[in-house]
Amino acid sequence: IWQNVPMGAPDAILGIAQAYRQCEDPRKVNVCVGAYRDDAGKSYVLPSVRAAEKMLWESQEPKEYLPIEGDKDFVRCALKFAYGPNMDIDTHVAAVQTLSGTGACAIGGRFLAQFWKNHPIYVPDPTWSNHISIFNQCGLDCRKYRYYNRSTNALDLEGMLKDLNRAKDGSIFLLHACAHNPTGCDPSLEQWKEVIDVVRQKHHVCFFDSAYQGFASGNAEVDAQAFRYAVSQHVPILLAQSFAKNFGLYGERVGTLSVVCGDAEQRDHILSELRLIIRPLYSSPPRHGSSIVKTVLMDPALKEQYYEECAGMALRIQKMRVKLVQALQKAGSQHDWSHITGQIGMFAFTGMNEAMCQQLTDEFSIYLTMNGRISMAGLNQKNLEYVAASIHVVTD
Ligand code: LMR
Repeated sequence: IWQNVPMGAPDAILGIAQAYRQCEDPRKVNVCVGAYRDDAGKSYVLPSVRAAEKMLWESQEPKEYLPIEGDKDFVRCALKFAYGPNMDIDTHVAAVQTLSGTGACAIGGRFLAQFWKNHPIYVPDPTWSNHISIFNQCGLDCRKYRYYNRSTNALDLEGMLKDLNRAKDGSIFLLHACAHNPTGCDPSLEQWKEVIDVVRQKHHVCFFDSAYQGFASGNAEVDAQAFRYAVSQHVPILLAQSFAKNFGLYGERVGTLSVVCGDAEQRDHILSELRLIIRPLYSSPPRHGSSIVKTVLMDPALKEQYYEECAGMALRIQKMRVKLVQALQKAGSQHDWSHITGQIGMFAFTGMNEAMCQQLTDEFSIYLTMNGRISMAGLNQKNLEYVAASIHVVTD
């Protein structure tokens, strides 16, 4: 009966990771998926996370179902981490625990499709490829706004502001809170202020995707400044929060979706509708990962330790940016690669075209996404020179 089921296209990111796993070339390098690796190329579990797991084991953490909206204490800690100490979360934030950032975007997208009907959602060009699939699947009309100028390798603020102005009032704008994926190019705080100003005038809705808080600059407060500023300007906000990168909890699927609202009554209404969206999809979220985050954030010493460890990951990536540019120069490249050190977060958006990326994979077994994005976390002392020399060959 299934003869008519066609072969689906491989995922633009995870499909390449799959191809990497199957490759038998001993030189192979994985700079495809945004997942942190240490300088030995090994996946890394934060010691603060391990310590929290030990505490959970010792306290015999139960395995009972969580409520539909997740663990209340985790959600509270997560919101404080995101919005800071001054936000009255009991009155102004309706929030649920989600299956990481993807789950948050998907629940938020369904909520918008139901309660902010007939308003398109604009995503940056380019954006994380999954955004488009998620919002299309939610039934939203997904469009693009200008974000990045490929000829200058810099933010296209003028284009972005024009597109914000041209969109019909009340449109939804998906904004990367920090460490824009894939470009690593963020607006400065001054530029964010200009963006939010237009959002306010046009009565747009901001849907912030915050996947790298603390992981981008090494400082969780700095990385939250865009959406905290937007909150201060009273623009309507949804926030998708992921703990995959900053806590290294990729496979645990920990996140939140929050909707900033006017009062406690609105909050209760929104929360009730979010529950109705979640229940038929997966009933309730998993508990182990959120218990880890809660344990870390509720223990002052562990929290302090966590902040240092997270900053350590950010620092290693910043150092690798400098080293990659130096290695490219040493390999003989005459190109200006300074945008790589100017970018922030997990990725370098190199400017390589699809043919160059394909050549890197076919001839050098270097696996990256075809938009020229490199996961900086995949680079280390051992593979840096090989990757730089290979990039030089394909870009010369
Ligand atoms: C990425 O962009 O590589 C990560 O966010 C992983 C993913 O799910 O795509």
